[in-house]
Amino acid sequence: MPSIRFRLNGVQTDVDADPDRSLLDILRGPLGMTGPHFGCGSGECGACHVIVGDRAVTSCDTPLWSVENKEVTTLDGLGSVERPHPLQRAFITEQALQCGYCVAGILMSAAALLMRNPSPTDADVRAALDRNLCRCGSHNRMVRAVLRAAAEMGAQ
Ligand code: FES
Repeated sequence: MPSIRFRLNGVQTDVDADPDRSLLDILRGPLGMTGPHFGCGSGECGACHVIVGDRAVTSCDTPLWSVENKEVTTLDGLGSVERPHPLQRAFITEQALQCGYCVAGILMSAAALLMRNPSPTDADVRAALDRNLCRCGSHNRMVRAVLRAAAEMGAQ
């Protein structure tokens, strides 16, 4: 079995697995990440979003081989209970979630946006979250939360 090497949440990681397996399978299975969630399994819902480089991608339909030598960030690496990311703080402040299932992917889409564009407009945020489905109807609060986090990060 070939070994695939990439950086996961800042740590050099080697995986011996079928390179055609989905990145989501590998992250949630042998690598023990609980951040990316399985929703549709077909690239439609965004619950499985992780950041590869500075782009949010659907890990359910991303093959393991395609992240070789790349930087992969999951929600597990974004912040912690002790040191939450500004996005996580803003989502709590704005009460921008209900069931929370989709939020793992939404936070990664928002984090990727802020990596590329630290001062997004309302329209930029809506466009960035367009590929993430939420059935609870928290969209407007999520947009406010992302703008709040961007403002906080810009003020630091
Ligand atoms: Fe990957 Fe829905 S689980 S997009």
